[in-house]
Amino acid sequence: MITGCAGANEPLNETRAEAKAENAAAKSDQKQKNLPNIRMLATGGTIAGADKSKTSTTNYKAGAVGVDALIEAVPELQDIANISGEQIANIGSQNMTNQTLLKLSKRAGELLASDDVDGIVVTHGTDTLEETAYFLNLVIKSDKPLVIVGSMRPSTAIGADGPSNLYNAVKVAGSKEAKGKGALVVMNDRIASARYVTKTNTTTPDTFKSEEMGNLGVIANDIYFFNDIAKKHTKETDFDIAKIARLPQVDIIYGYQSDGRYLFDAAVKAGAKGIIYAGSGNGSISDEAKKGAAAAMKKGLAVVRSSRTKNGVVTPNPELEKAKLLASNSLNPEKARILLMLALTKTNDPQKIQTYFNEY
Ligand code: DGL
Repeated sequence: MITGCAGANEPLNETRAEAKAENAAAKSDQKQKNLPNIRMLATGGTIAGADKSKTSTTNYKAGAVGVDALIEAVPELQDIANISGEQIANIGSQNMTNQTLLKLSKRAGELLASDDVDGIVVTHGTDTLEETAYFLNLVIKSDKPLVIVGSMRPSTAIGADGPSNLYNAVKVAGSKEAKGKGALVVMNDRIASARYVTKTNTTTPDTFKSEEMGNLGVIANDIYFFNDIAKKHTKETDFDIAKIARLPQVDIIYGYQSDGRYLFDAAVKAGAKGIIYAGSGNGSISDEAKKGAAAAMKKGLAVVRSSRTKNGVVTPNPELEKAKLLASNSLNPEKARILLMLALTKTNDPQKIQTYFNEY
């Protein structure tokens, strides 16, 4: 009897154990289902950088590690998201071209339109990160979180900032609070708007600042948003990545003492459709450069004054406005170039272009 009972209990115990395991698996499946689906689009940069030396933080190879290795390096990501990756490019962001920018943005747009994706994280070199981020901020037609992240130290360095930046980026991309805020840059425990943030230091991990306008939030274990972006973005703009096939050439000319018109002439000759003049102070332009700008505008180019000070508003100037020289509002020269390229896909009307600069 006893033996019989014991014998009868064995399969029962097995069944119970199986049921328990199934239950646990179902629970974990359920848990996975409750996690946001985040797609990571990798483009290279220091976050994917590697070097033989653990103490080298400058002479490493950017874009050496692939997207799967980036995800595997931070196993904790699995606790906060169902994460999968795609390699769009593996480059230093100084080599980001309009073509790669379009490829990345189109893919981000497609993914965000899908019900299977709750948010996107783009990994990117920090050098031109703000340009890509601002472009995405203007062309993506979705409210879902879109986060751009990089690092200042390569993945092999002591105190690499990539893993924590990546973890924070995925956390923000999976959060409800990040919806409808445009493209966000997450670095060094801060959440910044792509519209306001800029790289301010060549090497330090706290390089990204939103100097005049402030950050949108911080990550202190949890996510704390405390600002909204006042400028139009994503769904509110006239630009839709699905409809943009190519971008016109827009060049930046830096203003300095004794500058001349010849750089304007060279840009026109090279096929530019627009020029950003990084003027001194409040977008001041020398008389010689003004001649270059006037000649370019006569050929149909749009010319926008920005400021090499990188802070503050370039204010309208009645005399220059009469000459149809536009003003970049508070966009720095590299972001002004991004907006002018997009504006020129829509119009050549200086007044309409100026409206874009005032509103975006
Ligand atoms: N060359 C740089 C780039 O990819 C590396 C710098 C970085 O990612 O921080 O932008």
